[in-house]
Amino acid sequence: MFLYLLGLVVVWFIFRWYRELERVSDKGDKYVYITGCDSGFGNLLAKHLDKLGFRVIAGCYTEKGEDELKKVTSDRLTTVHVDVTDSDSVKKATASIKALVGQKGLWAVVNNAGVSVPSGPTDWLVIEDYKSMLAVNLLGVVDVTLSVLPLIKQAEGRVINVSSVFGRISPFGGPYCVSKYGVEAFSDSLRINMAPFGVKVACIEPGFFKTNVTDLVLLKGNVKKLWDRLPEDVKRDYGNDFLDISFEHLDNRFNQFTDSDLMKVVGCMEHGISAVRPRTRYSPGWDAKFFWLPLSYMPTFLSDTMFLKNGPKPKISKL
Ligand SMILES: NC(=O)c1ccc[n+]([C@@H]2O[C@H](COP(=O)([O-])OP(=O)(O)OC[C@H]3O[C@@H](n4cnc5c(N)ncnc54)[C@H](OP(=O)(O)O)[C@@H]3O)[C@@H](O)[C@H]2O)c1
Repeated sequence: MFLYLLGLVVVWFIFRWYRELERVSDKGDKYVYITGCDSGFGNLLAKHLDKLGFRVIAGCYTEKGEDELKKVTSDRLTTVHVDVTDSDSVKKATASIKALVGQKGLWAVVNNAGVSVPSGPTDWLVIEDYKSMLAVNLLGVVDVTLSVLPLIKQAEGRVINVSSVFGRISPFGGPYCVSKYGVEAFSDSLRINMAPFGVKVACIEPGFFKTNVTDLVLLKGNVKKLWDRLPEDVKRDYGNDFLDISFEHLDNRFNQFTDSDLMKVVGCMEHGISAVRPRTRYSPGWDAKFFWLPLSYMPTFLSDTMFLKNGPKPKISKL
């Protein structure tokens, strides 16, 4: 019985692998717009798709990002300046894209731009901390998508949204998980609404990868900044050594999980763009596949117990 089941699983994986092999044709006629191409996944994806022959429109946040990308790519690649938190900037970028793609429409948009700070215990934060991150990670995704959706419908193309494993489980405070849960919800409804138009929607849910988003210096600096502005009574509740314990915890977790092979994520993005039958969700990274996602399906009391047992606790903890 066990061997029979194992055989069925193996057959299913072979069937799925074969079904997902086929790629779309005429890459040289297909325009792909990516946000956040200055660094990390977006930067690598822009270079990778350019090599594969796609017409890449790389959305960069900085002029330096645009210049550096142009130096190492073909003349098929175009850059546009876009700040996803600024609707005028989003509209301006869309107008340039519309002029560039003409009757072909836009084959794909990859909503990749994102930030990971401010992040910290929820009672350390103020509403502005939430607003600033949601503006990039969630409203930026919605604004960019809505502005190019008519061009995507024209090409019967794709929307690829970069979420995170933290769009499936929420183990730490602050706006990051909130923003990524929002991206998941937006993608799910968009997928259903756009299916009749032949538009496909996919979510990328990476685990921990070595980029600016997981840069320990940046993350620790952010936690320290949040700590420094706390009122004395809150600091007393947490205890003077809480900051050091949190840093040690961050070091351990990131050393344990962070993967430096960004191609695992970029490969999934590329599949979402170029496969004839893309997946709805991709979970690049061993930690995503074998830790975070299984944990997200567990009963809440189990995952809560695990996080509470292993995370740093305030000095006055009742647990
Ligand atoms: N790395 C991970 O472990 C991980 C895991 C799960 C999900 N993700 C997601 O993956 C995506 C890409 O992040 P990454 O890891 O590649 O980090 P990254 O290197 O920091 O890339 C994020 C990019 O977004 C740009 N950006 C920031 N604010 C922007 C704005 N207002 N408008 C336009 N662009 C803006 C950044 O530009 P500057 O560099 O100039 O600031 C940067 O180029 C993010 O959505 C992130 O949440 C990352």
